[in-house]
Amino acid sequence: MTIPVLKFDAVVVGAGGAGLRSAIQLSEAGLKTAVLSKVFPTRSHTVAAQGGVAASLGNSEEDNWHWHMYDTVKGSDWLGDQDAIEFMCKKAVEAVVDLEHYGMPFDRVDNGRIYQRPFGGHMSNFGEKPVRRSCAAADRTGHAMLHAMYQRNVKANTQFFVEWMALDLIRDGEGHVVGVSAMEMETGRIVIFHSRATIFATGGAGRIFASSTNAFMNTGDGLGMAARAGIPLEDLEFWQFHPTGVAGAGVLITEGVRGEGGILRNASKERFMERYAPNAKDLASRDVVSRAMTTEIKEGRGCGPHKDHILLDITHLDPATILKRLPGIREISIQFAGVDPIEAPIPVVPTAHYQMGGIPTHYDGRVVVPREGDPRSVVPGFYAAGECACASVHGANRLGTNSLLDLLVFGKSAGDSAAEDLKSGKAHRDLPKDAADRIRARVDALDKRTGGIPVFEARKAIANTMQHHAGVFRFSDLLKKGVTKILEVEKAIQNLEIKDKSQAWNTARIEALETENLIEVAKATMVSAEARKESRGAHVRDDAPDTPEFPNGRNDKEWLKHTLWFRDGNRIEYKPVSMTPLTVDTIALKTRSY
Ligand code: FUM
Repeated sequence: MTIPVLKFDAVVVGAGGAGLRSAIQLSEAGLKTAVLSKVFPTRSHTVAAQGGVAASLGNSEEDNWHWHMYDTVKGSDWLGDQDAIEFMCKKAVEAVVDLEHYGMPFDRVDNGRIYQRPFGGHMSNFGEKPVRRSCAAADRTGHAMLHAMYQRNVKANTQFFVEWMALDLIRDGEGHVVGVSAMEMETGRIVIFHSRATIFATGGAGRIFASSTNAFMNTGDGLGMAARAGIPLEDLEFWQFHPTGVAGAGVLITEGVRGEGGILRNASKERFMERYAPNAKDLASRDVVSRAMTTEIKEGRGCGPHKDHILLDITHLDPATILKRLPGIREISIQFAGVDPIEAPIPVVPTAHYQMGGIPTHYDGRVVVPREGDPRSVVPGFYAAGECACASVHGANRLGTNSLLDLLVFGKSAGDSAAEDLKSGKAHRDLPKDAADRIRARVDALDKRTGGIPVFEARKAIANTMQHHAGVFRFSDLLKKGVTKILEVEKAIQNLEIKDKSQAWNTARIEALETENLIEVAKATMVSAEARKESRGAHVRDDAPDTPEFPNGRNDKEWLKHTLWFRDGNRIEYKPVSMTPLTVDTIALKTRSY
């Protein structure tokens, strides 16, 4: 069976912030660049990023990249690679200035400089007090960012393939990545994108959980494709639960609300964060706040008739500030919670938000995997950036607004590295002879199957299993059972059946293909979480108690290392954390408190 082949210098999969940023570098370097996206670029999930992008501009008070680096290492619970973190924090100012030059409409302070607000875990002077570091366009920063970068790509002649889903990564006999197969979502047409460089910027997989701030399209497609192509997934046990998803709906209420002065309160209206984080209070890092909220609810101090949520209160703020700085939040709150936050507090709960792990990459954007004697050896032709990648700057817990920064800095790095690698002008490497047959066989098998589990049931099974067995707090017995359960779900998914073969046929087929990606991320998460026998950042287990030897349950002697999960045999390996920054001293291990 032949499948049409389209040739490009570079193929970028995903048109969110990371994909658009890397495509700018590629197209402006004169490379013929295709960007594939399941949705129109400006509707990519970056659109949901509200509160801002971190950069130590120091526009409203003193700040510098070294303080930002310190906060990020501490936020990561020391699992982030310190060289990559230094690289990112140093590049932050330039990343924001680039956006400014692309026409991004940032909010301004009176002297015309970019407006900055405080965000959780971002402090001045190595952890002293909250600092204004988040550069914001009201509470629609991601939205503004996508528009600015899409337009820049149009100017640079990037070719967009909108409503196309990448299906599988194509590697040749020597392991070089030579492109992807993809499906046009409207028609089901399959095409091979043959490239000299392939950049994954496919975003996260928050839909492995039942309650998520993520869009329904966030199905871990890049991670699924990488895993099927033999590439391990790094640190997938670390998932961030954002403290403030609208209760019952999951929609994000930005941490910027607390940055503007919002306060979390329990049933007796107590500002309970003072007990958990006496210094940073409501602006402690996300893992700390989410656990505090969950504890309040578990111990009977939750709000509402079922005592099942917490209240986020901004009724004390000047309504003019809410209308100017948080207009989107007010709208979300009215529509999804039926509450005008000018008049009454917003009901919120911790909600799955961000995967700290992903496809292992160097901070230059090249994908790296262990090979004999070299834990970080490059996969030629393959690059990744943004939430699908693990650089690793977020370690065990990401700080708010470092995600937009990550996708800008590493999107640019990936684009630059690919452009650099393509300079030699070498021709495309041959596609493997069976590339077309393999993808056709995968899709045909799905189309022909009868008598199996329907897609919606498979998705429900994944989401419920993950939510119950790998949530905010983790329990050793639940994790063990979770591994067994998720492997059972995987077995059922091998017999996934598309029930709806009517007009909605191709949509159902896309959902089935997405489910095959979700299950890879779910397995990697559960297996990696069960294997890590300590508490660190967002991964907190009941059998790793807080003792003087292991404060907060963290065990640096045995567990200061990155997990690598291999699909083949559900195997785990570990690799060392890089504790050596590029130019400054190591930020020494210490107990994390806010
Ligand atoms: O709270 C927020 O605005 C989300 C930002 C982030 O996840 O970085």
